[in-house]
Amino acid sequence: MKSFNLTLIIVCFVLVVSCGVNDASKDGAALQDPTTIVIEGTMEAELTAPPFVPAPVGDRPAKKLIVNMEILEEVGAMADGVEYVYWTFGGSVPGSFIRTRVGDEVEFTLSNHPENKLPHNIDLHAVTGPGGGATSSFVAPGHEKVFSFKTLNPGLYVYHCATAPVGMHIANGMYGLILVEPAGGLPSVDKEYYIMQGDFYTKGENGEPGLQPFDMQKAVDEDADYVVFNGKVGALTGDGVITANVGETVRLYVGNGGPNLTSSFHVIGEIFDNVHVEGGDLINKNVQTTSIPAGGAAIVDFKVDVPGTFILVDHAIFRAFNKGALGMLKVSGEEDKQIYSGEMQEGIYNPEGGTIQTMPDDGSTVVSAPATNKSLSEKIASGKQIYTQTCFACHQSEGQGIPNAFPPLAKSDYLNADVKRAIGSVLNGLTGEITVNGEKYNSIMTKQTLTDEEIADVLTYVYNSWGNNKTNVTPAMVSEVKSSH
Ligand code: CU
Repeated sequence: MKSFNLTLIIVCFVLVVSCGVNDASKDGAALQDPTTIVIEGTMEAELTAPPFVPAPVGDRPAKKLIVNMEILEEVGAMADGVEYVYWTFGGSVPGSFIRTRVGDEVEFTLSNHPENKLPHNIDLHAVTGPGGGATSSFVAPGHEKVFSFKTLNPGLYVYHCATAPVGMHIANGMYGLILVEPAGGLPSVDKEYYIMQGDFYTKGENGEPGLQPFDMQKAVDEDADYVVFNGKVGALTGDGVITANVGETVRLYVGNGGPNLTSSFHVIGEIFDNVHVEGGDLINKNVQTTSIPAGGAAIVDFKVDVPGTFILVDHAIFRAFNKGALGMLKVSGEEDKQIYSGEMQEGIYNPEGGTIQTMPDDGSTVVSAPATNKSLSEKIASGKQIYTQTCFACHQSEGQGIPNAFPPLAKSDYLNADVKRAIGSVLNGLTGEITVNGEKYNSIMTKQTLTDEEIADVLTYVYNSWGNNKTNVTPAMVSEVKSSH
């Protein structure tokens, strides 16, 4: 045992020495004390809004790097119909991505826009010095502050506002990432993206429309209404998807602004080939889910081998499907049936929003919002949206159901025979055996926590689709069924 250990130590020692020699001959800066790296020239830093990152440093020498960052307080969309006053570094949440290399001397100018209402500052975790810059950068609206620092440690670092109440400034979106590349740069990849998770606390519950103020008590209680990537629900879906081609390597710079929640970052259908654990030098390989603490980061990379849509989530999964922590990576290219056989159905990962589903019971206590007067086509459109969020997974896109599991809604004799029974099923859930179109089903339908109007809309959509009898279900019919229970 002892001799084995000794052999191991000698082998390791030889490896370290030989690597060191190779590195030194290749790039003298690799082993250099970063405080002694001499800068050559000046350049202005390229800053980018998410999901994009500036060009890699490559083999450029350390420089004086000019960073001009402007703080903007502005209204943005948290979700469809939900607005929020964001406080931002550079006009985006997360703030502008800053890309440096070890040994750079960063001259940082922080400007607070004259129309802003509050003072702010910046604490960069890449800074060695009091407050990470916060003590030198406290700036009132209409003013700017300049300070400088030398990047000593390679890695991916969070920056954030540290003005009291600190939690509130972070909760309103004041965070971002600064990358310090090693001398010679990180290994090159085909695609790089910038993703940062954050949790948000609003007076209204998830999905409640209108301009939503920050809720301090919910923030203290860590009771998040929204958990999102890049500042809002859907930032990385629809037009915001990130993309790659089959055969490419993808690197994600992933941060977590918090203020409260740790991220269990995962890409559905991919395995991270390499993870720079906590954004540092330690590389873990073949990782499914990586933990990213509030105020921390990770660099993950992987090769995409097959086409399709890969879903980015916080695998604390209610956050993904009910609070917004869901994004998409779309990969184009040739199928490889050996790696994956196919049969994927697009669109199955519809976020569910704040809709709460519970197990069936015998009564309903849902308080309904006042009904509005919508046309039949507006009701059908609204109902379709509710359907894709709530009913789609079991009853499927064309109402065809799933054989032996979930009954069809298309041309359904059960549905068309009794609209009150159908309303009751949505209101209260359904258990026990039923027969639909001659087939027996014995699954559980959860009770849907929807308003009368939402139930009317979704049933109207179902009744006006797939060969059903075109019943127009009204909120009054729903409320009648509810009260007759
Ligand atoms: Cu601030």
